[in-house]
Amino acid sequence: MNALLLKNAHLIDPSQGHDGITDILIENGYVAELGPTLHQHPSSANARLIDVASQWVLPGLIDLHVHFREPGHTRKETIATGSRAAVAGGFTSVCAMANTSPVNDSVKITKLMMEKAESADLARYFPIGGVSMGLKGEELADLGLLKQTGCVAFSDDGFPIMNAGLMKRALSYSEHLGVPIVAHEEDLNLSNRGYVHEGEVSAALGCLGIPSSAEEIMVARDIILAEETGGHLHVAHVSTSGSLELIRRAKSRGIHVTCEVTPHHFALSDKELLKFDTNYKMSPPLRTQKDIESIMEALVDGTIDAIATDHAPHGLQDKNIPLPLAAFGVIGLETALPLSIHLLVHSKVITRMRLIELMTSGPARVFNLDRMNLGTLKKGSPADFVIVDSDKKIKVSMDFIKSKSANTPFIGWELPGHIKSTWVRGSKVWGVSEA
Ligand code: DOR
Repeated sequence: MNALLLKNAHLIDPSQGHDGITDILIENGYVAELGPTLHQHPSSANARLIDVASQWVLPGLIDLHVHFREPGHTRKETIATGSRAAVAGGFTSVCAMANTSPVNDSVKITKLMMEKAESADLARYFPIGGVSMGLKGEELADLGLLKQTGCVAFSDDGFPIMNAGLMKRALSYSEHLGVPIVAHEEDLNLSNRGYVHEGEVSAALGCLGIPSSAEEIMVARDIILAEETGGHLHVAHVSTSGSLELIRRAKSRGIHVTCEVTPHHFALSDKELLKFDTNYKMSPPLRTQKDIESIMEALVDGTIDAIATDHAPHGLQDKNIPLPLAAFGVIGLETALPLSIHLLVHSKVITRMRLIELMTSGPARVFNLDRMNLGTLKKGSPADFVIVDSDKKIKVSMDFIKSKSANTPFIGWELPGHIKSTWVRGSKVWGVSEA
């Protein structure tokens, strides 16, 4: 028997309403027992003991939205390097978008991705299949077959689905298959080759703007289609106040809608673009201070289900070029928890319990990963966990970044939340210290 006893763990596990000190006994990769004095119990006598010294022990974090670029753009990220960034950031499960090359719209690519992840043997890897063939928004992919192969959701992310008829059919399949459709909400006629939020800043800079309405019109359309079909609409990277209000109202009417926000959308406003640094260019764009305040409110009132990174690695050749030409996207796996502790918990926007819910049981519910007992450390669940020194400061530096790309605007930031170690199935996949 392979047994491990975590002594004096400050377990924060929203799935059990637990926020306090306990011992945790892990046997053969599963949580065997929780209790305050397990270390004195004969059942733990043969277990390897780690004194966690009151540091946080959390269910492994779950990211609903990463781009790992394999196959196709492995100079930016591979499944192995992305997985390393994930576990360095405390994530034990990642859900990977389909905008690879070739696109993940076939059994062959889904299988290839899963094989690569298995040989990396770091975080759990869940592929997201394309909604449409080639992500072209024309012909539906074989969603049933892709689900059977292992896809946990479907998305054309990176591209909006402009064809409402196709979206309606995708949502009908979602209802039938019980998997979400993840929508990148952007009306291309309104965004019209823009690359920053349309407002005072875009006007001052003379940059082409993407109005809030480009996102909101599509959110409104897809809520109507979710109601009509009974499908599950998950809105990716929500960025505007108006989108959140639409989602809030839809939820209150019982429509099956969920949503995620990214740390960069609540950490930064479009004013950062005045620095003309392409690391502030992403899709959707950074919005205004008012939008940030709306995100904070929606994190508090439950409108938002999950914090997701939209980890989008790009190389220097994609980013060290003029702003209008640069690629959209920022990496986020290594900084998500520290940024969220700093901006949400230490700033008293939400409790630490709510934050951990947004990064564990919340996302698990959205993609039905709770059926595999992920996002929880309840007795009997897989021992995927992370040990965090929540007070210790980290400095975001090139060395700190484990992704193959370093396109982050957070270099130089000092943040609380040192990820000491990350464990999947009871085995350590990240961290050098004993704990
Ligand atoms: O900023 C973004 N980058 N947004 C997306 O929707 C796609 C992503 C990417 O693939 O780089």
